[in-house]
Amino acid sequence: MSTVTIYHTTSLDGRIADGSGGFEWISEQYSLDAFMARCEQADAVLVGRGAYRSYVESEMWPLPGRLIVLSTTAQPENAEVRAGSAPELVASLADEGMENLLLAGGTTTNTAFARAGLVSGIVLDIQPSLLGEGPGVFEDGVSVELRLRVSEQMADIMHVEFDVVHA
Ligand SMILES: NC(=O)c1ccc[n+]([C@@H]2O[C@H](COP(=O)([O-])OP(=O)(O)OC[C@H]3O[C@@H](n4cnc5c(N)ncnc54)[C@H](OP(=O)(O)O)[C@@H]3O)[C@@H](O)[C@H]2O)c1
Repeated sequence: MSTVTIYHTTSLDGRIADGSGGFEWISEQYSLDAFMARCEQADAVLVGRGAYRSYVESEMWPLPGRLIVLSTTAQPENAEVRAGSAPELVASLADEGMENLLLAGGTTTNTAFARAGLVSGIVLDIQPSLLGEGPGVFEDGVSVELRLRVSEQMADIMHVEFDVVHA
């Protein structure tokens, strides 16, 4: 059975980007090691076209692991490109043996997977910053029950992992 884990760095007020979409608000003490390790462990790392562009602009691309950009328009570098509904994508990846999926943004893509009931876990590295504006992990209207599984301080970051409780 497939699992989809969302992994994001967020501000304390739950933003995944500042008003200009950048990552300059992220603490200098932040280490990407935990995120990179999860990318390597996953069967595939999925990113929406918007997140792909911000990773490229931040010189974080390519992430480690098998990279799949979800897009009907982009021709990404160092990655496969796929399109389809979230359930179709998860089913076709499972058919190809990719069941442990990491979803690394952004808001639109996270929301589509959550609305389809496909998100099994959420991992956040919470930064010591309040942005006041910017996109969240999900669009408004997404509501899921969560169970805290891990909470750990990493320098000045709070690393938390939640399981989604499916009714
Ligand atoms: N803090 C963090 O950890 C972090 C990490 C990554 C990104 N971000 C932020 O996230 C923001 C980007 O989020 P976003 O909501 O604008 O964009 P997004 O969710 O990354 O990308 C949306 C686009 O992805 C494509 N897509 C998504 N699902 C698809 C599907 N099932 N089939 C085909 N195409 C699909 C579509 O592109 P097409 O129009 O090409 O079809 C859609 O317009 C940026 O501000 C970025 O900085 C933050």
